Amino acid sequence: MRIKTFKLEEFFAKYEFNVEYLLCSSDCESFSVKELLELESGALEELNKLRLGYTESLGHPILRKEISKLYEDIEKENVIVFSGAEEGIFVYMNVLLKKEDHIIVQFPAYQSLFEIANAIGCEVTKWEMTDENDWELDLEFLESNIRKNTKCIVINFPHNPTGYLISKEKYKMIFEIAQQNDIYIFSDEVYRFLEYDQNDRLPPMCDLYNKGISLGVMSKSYGLAGLRIGWIASKDHSLLEQIASFKNYTTICNSALSEFFAILALKNSGIILNRNLKIVKKNLNLLDSFFKKYQNLFQWVKPKAGSIAFPRIVGKRSIDNFCMDLLKSKGVLLMPSSNYEYGDKHFRIGFGRKNMLEALLKLEEFVVEKF
Ligand SMILES: Cc1ncc(COP(=O)(O)O)c(C=O)c1O
Repeated sequence: MRIKTFKLEEFFAKYEFNVEYLLCSSDCESFSVKELLELESGALEELNKLRLGYTESLGHPILRKEISKLYEDIEKENVIVFSGAEEGIFVYMNVLLKKEDHIIVQFPAYQSLFEIANAIGCEVTKWEMTDENDWELDLEFLESNIRKNTKCIVINFPHNPTGYLISKEKYKMIFEIAQQNDIYIFSDEVYRFLEYDQNDRLPPMCDLYNKGISLGVMSKSYGLAGLRIGWIASKDHSLLEQIASFKNYTTICNSALSEFFAILALKNSGIILNRNLKIVKKNLNLLDSFFKKYQNLFQWVKPKAGSIAFPRIVGKRSIDNFCMDLLKSKGVLLMPSSNYEYGDKHFRIGFGRKNMLEALLKLEEFVVEKF
């Protein structure tokens, strides 16, 4: 398989570990091993007993059980655990798609959600969102672009990079359109549980639809990206079997240590998610004030969920130049929209980290000095 470079990940590989202020990370504040072990008495003793052999390919049964509890109508048999959400996307796309298939992908998007299909040779229709339209998705576009060979609709709510969260009514309509046409829905739900108003939380697609696949991960809302634990949940047993079989060619099984900590974190998810949502909401208010103050320079659609947003720089300025100048003069990293193949005006800003205010103040210094 020949696949294009993953622009966003290459950008991170270049800068993430050598800049002073990361202001575009999508994951929430992380936890130390000590903090996790303190969540449960006896956890350290359990960890000391853990043997580091191969693990069960589909994931530790207790982990699969804990994951299944995140859904209404899903048993542990409906869950396969991977090394990150990324492996789940890769395996799913490879199992489901063949050369002549067509997919429709919400856009802008995390690149692997469409690039793997491109590499397989599929036809890819980008279902584009714009900030002029508050990032709202146009369902008529979806309906009118379905073809005989459309195999899958790829969606992502809460959305990377815009923070857009579709209404429950429209979400249901996507499912109805897919069902009428017998098309799979791959629903990337990795930012689930970061809805600012819990009433806005969408039902997982795997609960709603037999051909619906929900993708989850420990990286984002739980802030545990270093565990590299993600999963797929679905009621489609035959597809799950093929996915399980393909996994023997990627990672075979997951890290025993990571599974241990993922179980611990999921059993105590209330504490973890509350802490992270609190950080996100506090930072969001700071950002909202910032963007109101500098509305001559930036426009933004305030997100409804998640830890990232996708504001626009106004006027003729190039966002690539803006981001590079900012990085050189203040050591602050923003993600220009060129890494999403989405023009030259937007940038991703991340607000899941505790030190966001420090980075924002540096951005403000830059804006005041330069503009
Ligand atoms: C929408 C989306 N899906 C999947 C992933 C991959 O997650 P992970 O890095 O945990 O594998 C990301 C990571 O940024 C993402 O934003």
